[in-house]
Amino acid sequence: MTTIYNFSAGPAVLPKEVLQQAAAEMLDWHGSGMSVMEMSHRGPEFISIYRAAERDLRDLLAVPDNYRILFMQGGGLSQNAVIPMNLVGRKRDPVVDFIHTGSWSGKSIKEAARYAKVNVAASAQESRYTRVPPQSEWKLTPDAAYLHLCTNETIDGVEIDFVPEVPAGVPIVADMSSHILSRQVDVAKYGVIFGGAQKNIGPAGVTVVIVRDDLIGHALPICPSAFDWKNVAENESMFNTPPTYGIYIAGLVFQWLKRQGGIAAMEQRNIEKARLLYAALDADDFYQNRVDPQYRSRMNVPFYLRDESKNEAFLAGAKARGLLQLKGHKSVGGMRASIYNAMPIEGVQALVDYLNEFAGR
Ligand SMILES: Cc1ncc(COP(=O)(O)O)c(C=O)c1O
Repeated sequence: MTTIYNFSAGPAVLPKEVLQQAAAEMLDWHGSGMSVMEMSHRGPEFISIYRAAERDLRDLLAVPDNYRILFMQGGGLSQNAVIPMNLVGRKRDPVVDFIHTGSWSGKSIKEAARYAKVNVAASAQESRYTRVPPQSEWKLTPDAAYLHLCTNETIDGVEIDFVPEVPAGVPIVADMSSHILSRQVDVAKYGVIFGGAQKNIGPAGVTVVIVRDDLIGHALPICPSAFDWKNVAENESMFNTPPTYGIYIAGLVFQWLKRQGGIAAMEQRNIEKARLLYAALDADDFYQNRVDPQYRSRMNVPFYLRDESKNEAFLAGAKARGLLQLKGHKSVGGMRASIYNAMPIEGVQALVDYLNEFAGR
């Protein structure tokens, strides 16, 4: 059988070892006689799974003690509403700053505008989202409720590789959905880090929120109680029934990451994978990635064939070689290869070999 490599942007490839372990434990978790799916979230078995997952994620990202880790539901899009509902109550006349770097920050802007005054402090629209506007051009609000960034734009393939300077007291809120755990990050520089699990963490249905203590407890009265971070934090993510099976798989992924050497080792592998793929795309003008090289994402690599009439043939040939889900997002067309942590370098090499073959090199 051909080896399959799955380049989906999410839900995405998971480590084979994790899936094998989950399969082995499916009917009887650790002699409990139950599948994790069948356990009460309040029972000792699941509580131990939950606490291990929380601790391992804390270790992996070196999350400081004054931050809570919440496992929520609703995905990244829900947090676009949940975040303003939890944060703007700290200010009398709240303004939220945004840097518009692509599709996902665009959606966040629209949603936040329902709850607060939004200031788009900088936008990459005129470059068609191929770069991050230089910080010298950002028009930040001195006492903003927060600054929202999407640090990796999954559709546009743009990654912010620096922590911006912000006015004192303004928390940075980062949507890291598609690159969390792919690179080292200084959590203490952020007020909130959030992301849907379905790219680099586990299955869809879990949303991870890492939030600094002092930002909890300010929810607007309209905030649904299950989305009030205070309720979630005080109840160890069990204010309501959490996505138990998804948290279990996420926990297995965290253990797998530790066995790989942690985030520093993973980051080195991700640098190498991205280098290999971009080099093949840049070799001549048969393919094109339009993002300023400084801001190219290590996780999501959109590209176009110079001759777009060959798109279908390219995808069919890829599929025949076991290279799956390379079609670009419908809003931008072309191709996209997502090369998350669980994509082995052999998968990237197989794609590079095919890129060379299809280009007749
Ligand atoms: C960067 C980013 N933010 C937010 C979302 C939305 O997440 P969800 O579909 O979990 O609501 C996505 C989904 O792909 C994403 O890539």
